[in-house]
Amino acid sequence: MAKINRRAFVLANAIGLTAPPRRSFGRAPAVLRQSVKPIVISSANGHRFRNGGTQTCVELAFRRIVDGDDLLDALIAGVNIVELDPEDASVGYGGRPNADGVVQLDACCMEGSTHRAGGVAALEGVRTPSKVAQAVMLHTDHHLLVGSGAQNFARQLGFNIEADLNTDRSRRLWLEWKRRTDPNHYLDPNRTVAQSQVDSELLAETLSDTDEAYGTINCNGIDLQGQLAGVTTTSGLAWKIPSRVGDSPILGAGLYVDSQAGAVGSTGRGEANLYNLTSFLIVEYLRQGMSPQDAGLAGLRRIQENTREPRLQNSRGLPNFGVTFYVLNAAGECAGVSMYGGSNRTYALCTENGPELLPLEPLLDGTPND
Ligand code: GLY
Repeated sequence: MAKINRRAFVLANAIGLTAPPRRSFGRAPAVLRQSVKPIVISSANGHRFRNGGTQTCVELAFRRIVDGDDLLDALIAGVNIVELDPEDASVGYGGRPNADGVVQLDACCMEGSTHRAGGVAALEGVRTPSKVAQAVMLHTDHHLLVGSGAQNFARQLGFNIEADLNTDRSRRLWLEWKRRTDPNHYLDPNRTVAQSQVDSELLAETLSDTDEAYGTINCNGIDLQGQLAGVTTTSGLAWKIPSRVGDSPILGAGLYVDSQAGAVGSTGRGEANLYNLTSFLIVEYLRQGMSPQDAGLAGLRRIQENTREPRLQNSRGLPNFGVTFYVLNAAGECAGVSMYGGSNRTYALCTENGPELLPLEPLLDGTPND
C-alpha cells in the first residue's frame, strides 16, 4: 500500500476515505469503521523522551499510523524510544534495578481486533522488552515467557543479549539504596506504616521520585480502520525482590485491549492492578457504554474500595500510592485518570493537531501522603 502523508491523510479523512493496514495478520479485524481519526495516548514519558532523536513516542507512533503502518508495530516503535533512552529510569535500558542490582524488565502488548497478545516478565539483558513481547505473540502459541526462558527465547530470535542494562545513574541509585539497607519489601506482619525511613530519605534527597519508583510507559492507539492496540513496558518497582512481576506483563492488569470496546493500560502501583484486574475492568465499563473518564474513575474507585490493609492507607484511610490509567474507547475518545492529581500529573496525546501533555483527572483530592 502506498504511504500517505499527513496532508493526504487529513484530506482522505475529510472525504471519508481510509487506508487499509499495511500488514494483515491473517484474520479479518472484528471491527472495521470508516473515517476514524488516529489517536495515540500514553503516559507522560511518551512525550518527554527522544533518546537523542527528534520525535517522542506518541509523535512517532502517530506518524507511522497515519503512514499506514501496522498499528501495533507503530506503538512498539514509539515505546522503543523510551526503552532505549537512558534518561528514563523506569523503562528498559537504565531502568531501576531490583534488590540485587539487576535490571529486570516486564512488557506486554495486545491487538484489540485479533485478540492476540504476548508478554515477558523478569527479562534480563534486552533493552526493548516490548519487542520480545511482540515476538512471543507472533512466534509462539503462548502468552507469557519469564526469566531465563524469556531471555533464551529472545536470544534464539536474534535479540542482542547484554550482560547488564544498568547505566551509571541506575547503578549509583541502587548502591545508595543498598547502603541504607531497605527492609521495605520483606514485610513485618506487625508493621502498619507504609514507607520505610529509607524511602522517605531517598525521596527527600531527590535521589528518587514516586513516578520513577513504579515508573512505566503505557501507549495505546487507534488506527484509520478503528482497530485498537496497546503496549506496556517497564523496569517495574524500583529495588523489588528479584523476580517480582508487576502488572505490566499481565493481561487485564496493566493492559487490555478489545477493538469493540477500548484499550486501557496503566502505570503506578502494579499490585493494585493485579489484585483488581483493573485494565480489563475498565474495558468492560467502556463496553457498557461509560465514557473513558467515567470508566477510568470507576476502575480507580474499585482499587480504593479494595485497599483495606492499613499499611497501604494514608491518615485519611485512602490509598497511599498512585495508579494512573490511559483510556481509549472504540470511538476514539480518550481520558487520562489517576488516583491523585497534581500540577505535574499529566498524560500524553497525539492527534492530527499534534502532540500535547494534558492534566490527568484525579479520583481523590490531596496527595497519597496526606
Ligand atoms: N506498574 C508497574 C509495576 O508495578 O511494575
